[in-house]
Amino acid sequence: MDLRLSGRTALVSGSTQGIGYAIAEALLREGASVTVNGRDPERVRAAVAGLTAAVPGAKASGLAADLADPEQVSRLLGDLGSIDILVNNVGLFEVAPFADIHDEAWQRYWEVNVMSGVRLTRHLLPLMLERGWGRVIFVGTESGVSVPGDMLHYGVTKAGVLALSNGLAKLTRGTEVTVNTILGGPTYSDGVADAVAQISQAQSVPVDALKAAVIGGNQTSLLERFIEPSEIAHLAAYLASPVSSATNGAALRADGGVLTGIL
Ligand SMILES: NC(=O)c1ccc[n+]([C@@H]2O[C@H](COP(=O)([O-])OP(=O)(O)OC[C@H]3O[C@@H](n4cnc5c(N)ncnc54)[C@H](OP(=O)(O)O)[C@@H]3O)[C@@H](O)[C@H]2O)c1
Repeated sequence: MDLRLSGRTALVSGSTQGIGYAIAEALLREGASVTVNGRDPERVRAAVAGLTAAVPGAKASGLAADLADPEQVSRLLGDLGSIDILVNNVGLFEVAPFADIHDEAWQRYWEVNVMSGVRLTRHLLPLMLERGWGRVIFVGTESGVSVPGDMLHYGVTKAGVLALSNGLAKLTRGTEVTVNTILGGPTYSDGVADAVAQISQAQSVPVDALKAAVIGGNQTSLLERFIEPSEIAHLAAYLASPVSSATNGAALRADGGVLTGIL
């Protein structure tokens, strides 16, 4: 299928590694120009270099900004050219007992997981509506639908992302702009790999055994393995494409079958 992304411009938030990086790569492979983002200029430069080396003819550039900081978001938006496709990917996650999640962590999760998307979309969506075409994609999670008891700050903020995305889609009525969310499931991103490596070292358990235990402990995964970042990225590339024009205001699952409902 030709996704007809040649000539389109995209921003992927939080894309120096993991799912964001895979989405940037998928969009570049389809011919879009992509701006990658992360907090550290050196890591952003490295990501742009990696993508340029991996994808022949890639039009990749980078903008460093901490998306938890409104001033840095404003600066990024000022430096950004015209954007057709916004992928709100950046997100924090960690396992933590509810009693140990203090106000500061709740606020940090709110700023990164919800407000980064609010601020970027508030600026870019009106411009897409003016130009008559655009795509806003949120990278959500099944944890925003079935909230884990040991990741409440994650699940609650990601439930907020689902509401935000659904509401924003209602602003696009009668246009060729769409707003959708991907419901990811357990994905072996760089962030997850780092966490697994740390636990492996701390508990002297081999990485493979830990990976198997995490997926084995998940009673509902139909995939019975971790999802690869590229498997999320393929859905993102489809949603970014003009061919997905009839999908709007939706939450689409790439969760390995973790959610058990029909819809
Ligand atoms: N992995 C999973 O199992 C899974 C499942 C479902 C959904 N998701 C969602 O997928 C998204 C990406 O997850 P991931 O696992 O790929 O994460 P990851 O590997 O930890 O990567 C996170 C990315 O975000 C950037 N970042 C972090 N804080 C930032 C900030 N304040 N401002 C700008 N950039 C920032 C990091 O760049 P720097 O460190 O260079 O700043 C990095 O590029 C998240 O929204 C997550 O909720 C993940």
